[in-house]
Amino acid sequence: MELGRSEYSEKAQIAINNFLPRLGKRKTIDTITDGLSSRPKQISSMFLYDTTGSNLFSQITRLPEYYLTRIEMALLQQLAPKIIGLCGRGSDIVELGSGECRKISLLFDCASQSALHSLRYVPVDINPEEIKKSVGMLITKYRGIQVCGVVADYTQQFELIPRDRDRLICFLGSTIGNLTDDMRRGFLMKIAQSMAPGDRFLVGMDMVKAPYLLEKAYNDSANVTALFNKNILNVVNSLAATDFDLSRFEHVAFYNTEYSRIEMHLRALENMTVSSPRIGQRFTIKKGELIHTENSRKFRPEKTAEELHSAGFTIDSVVMDSNRWYSLYLLSKSGTV
Ligand code: AVI
Repeated sequence: MELGRSEYSEKAQIAINNFLPRLGKRKTIDTITDGLSSRPKQISSMFLYDTTGSNLFSQITRLPEYYLTRIEMALLQQLAPKIIGLCGRGSDIVELGSGECRKISLLFDCASQSALHSLRYVPVDINPEEIKKSVGMLITKYRGIQVCGVVADYTQQFELIPRDRDRLICFLGSTIGNLTDDMRRGFLMKIAQSMAPGDRFLVGMDMVKAPYLLEKAYNDSANVTALFNKNILNVVNSLAATDFDLSRFEHVAFYNTEYSRIEMHLRALENMTVSSPRIGQRFTIKKGELIHTENSRKFRPEKTAEELHSAGFTIDSVVMDSNRWYSLYLLSKSGTV
């Protein structure tokens, strides 16, 4: 289903704005070309999330090995009454990378009918289908809630997210770990600078733990993560008219201790050439060569506190599970509380 640039339904108090066309197709092709021309080759993890990729990721979040979502939802349930209590009348709840809105629903479950009537939910996601689907579900389940969906790449189009009300900005799922260290630091600063006194930032972070536990979460026995990883080649094929053959690659995910991150790659099973009339170039790939598709950074409590402070945040609360595998940080802008 194609989304128009902006679709409004006053009766249901919904607005969906699609800002992706502003990024331009040329830029997408250039990003793909640069990645495939670099050494080692890479494809941005942002291309993991077409409709198939989003569905596969949704399956990943329900896998027994992928503990992140399960723990985060339990922590969120614990913190939800406090968070909803902090959201004043007429506030926005902004969610970066909202996906299927399963986690944010835990907050709405805690809100009274009158609180729901005064809240506006602003889901921000790169996949218009996800936003449309979840908005439909939310307005049926939470009568009276206003929704203002934003289809955008929040790392590049953050300033397009509405900021005319008090805000709770949520960045859940440890998605912050998918940014590079430099991007993460810059993005945290950008968020802090955008906040007004009284605004809050809620961020989920997956913590460093035994490598075998991390590696199991990204090498599940049902091979869903492998399909999710390989699907990035389908996305690139459709965006850049390349002719990647998925069956000639295997999924690789391992913990890189030096950088405290899970790395996902695709390993070529044979020598091949990939070409694209749209790019006008051929890419030679050798048997055994890796294409880097994602980093998933894991965090340490002390370093994280330091980083959050230097980005301009005060830590209001931190909740962790008993194993200290995962943390939820509730933050405000330094010097404003
Ligand atoms: C979305 N993101 C936080 C997930 C992660 O764990 O880094 C994406 C993912 N990649 C493989 N499995 C899940």
